[in-house]
Amino acid sequence: MTRHLRLGINIDHVATIRNARGGYHPDPVRAAIMAAQAGADGITAHLREDRRHISDHDIKRLAKEVPLPLNLEIAATGEMLDIALAHVPHACCIVPEKREEVTTEGGLDVKGGRAHLHAYIGALREKGIRVSLFIDPDPAQVKAAAEIGADVIELHTGRYCETSGKARDEELGALQKAARLGATLGLEIHAGHGLSFETVGPVAAIPEVVELNIGHFLVGEAIFCGFEASIRRMRQLMDQASAETPENQDLKTA
Ligand code: PXP
Repeated sequence: MTRHLRLGINIDHVATIRNARGGYHPDPVRAAIMAAQAGADGITAHLREDRRHISDHDIKRLAKEVPLPLNLEIAATGEMLDIALAHVPHACCIVPEKREEVTTEGGLDVKGGRAHLHAYIGALREKGIRVSLFIDPDPAQVKAAAEIGADVIELHTGRYCETSGKARDEELGALQKAARLGATLGLEIHAGHGLSFETVGPVAAIPEVVELNIGHFLVGEAIFCGFEASIRRMRQLMDQASAETPENQDLKTA
């Protein structure tokens, strides 16, 4: 069977634009419904401690009004645990969070925060929430994620996207190795951060990756070609690249 690579649309920056003026426009819930119509498989939203984009009310509406699974990104704090347990999203992705950062800068230190994260994951899983840990493509972090009972790892593609030439090839190599290791350890593999039309192909072609979460580029691109069209184009590029993975090639020639 051909691998279906899922596309999760992160609608945080629809809320960023709304919040620039206050009020209700543009509405991230409307964007999420539009993403569903354009072929997205899920919606991702990051509720930050400072509520700089997504609000508590958005989470409530996203959970109720959108016909797609919600992946709630949160820092591993008590406040966010209470919110997740109140809304019971399909999945939670645990991310590191620094108040002063512009966006999520690096992966979670699972190795260093093992005891706290183990208990945190347990509380979410007990409610049936699938737990993902957002980590750098570092074998030690992948192993730690498997050891403390995560269901999923989301590999941070930020450095791969920011670099070029040989450095980018090395980052891609690290993502490929981490994905392979994670899958061997029984983890489901996702990836995301900073992906664009230009960078998505090689990540979509990693055979173990089953979901990509993409936001900022698509919201920006919507200015030029519309939100639905930007999602459809991303979907097309992902499908093209994933059709070229060795397992799918084998199926075609069998
Ligand atoms: N995955 C995670 C865990 C993230 O924190 C983010 C950014 O909120 C994304 C994916 C999406 O990144 P981008 O908006 O750069 O596409």
